[in-house]
Amino acid sequence: MNPPPLSIALTKGRILQSTLPLLDAVGIVPAEDAENTRKLLVDTNHPDIKILLVRASDVPAYVEYGGADVGVTGKDVLLEHSGRGLYEPLDLGIGVCQMVVAGKKGVRIDGPGILRVATKYPEVARQFFDRRGQQVEIIKLYGSMELAPLVGMADLIVDIMETGATMAANGLEVIGQPICDISSRLIVNKASMKMKHKAIHQLIDGLSAAVIHNTL
Ligand code: PRP
Repeated sequence: MNPPPLSIALTKGRILQSTLPLLDAVGIVPAEDAENTRKLLVDTNHPDIKILLVRASDVPAYVEYGGADVGVTGKDVLLEHSGRGLYEPLDLGIGVCQMVVAGKKGVRIDGPGILRVATKYPEVARQFFDRRGQQVEIIKLYGSMELAPLVGMADLIVDIMETGATMAANGLEVIGQPICDISSRLIVNKASMKMKHKAIHQLIDGLSAAVIHNTL
């Protein structure tokens, strides 16, 4: 009997580039150049395994609603998602960065007054400032947050920082300790975990070994 088909949601760019070597280590190879194809559903060397190419912020929805059995996405994206209908069994140790608060040199995180915080991560920002007992006004943006303090639209940003080059290029500095560490995670649809138990456990075990090898 053929194994049930398995679909894996990935995102073009950094996640795809760092996930493909891990998939390769478990013997899964796209049948074509996944980074450059215009196709959204890509075959692999296994007739029963397909790769879906979706936006990073859509990966949790595809996995939660069963559009994909598993997916790879950043913890930053997952923190903004409710997490219902998902398992998060594996830290892939790739896409490592930090969630930070930043602002123009000398800006104070505690005011005076109610500060404006521009961010792609309103949930993370709200929880962070709530924990501090600090009221802020959150402005939801979809990218290039570093611009907001420069043009006087916001006092602070909450964003991910990898090398720090983007902050530095825009004259911003990190304030205080990072909010949290971020990395890419394997996520699994709850129903698929039951229905496709064998295939998904094989994938998790194989990827776990590949992650250890990758980080040695
Ligand atoms: C992310 C983040 C920063 C940048 C940080 O943006 O929002 O802008 O990377 O990386 P660095 O510390 O190495 O400079 P991304 O490239 O994902 O695009 P975005 O602005 O659309 O979020």
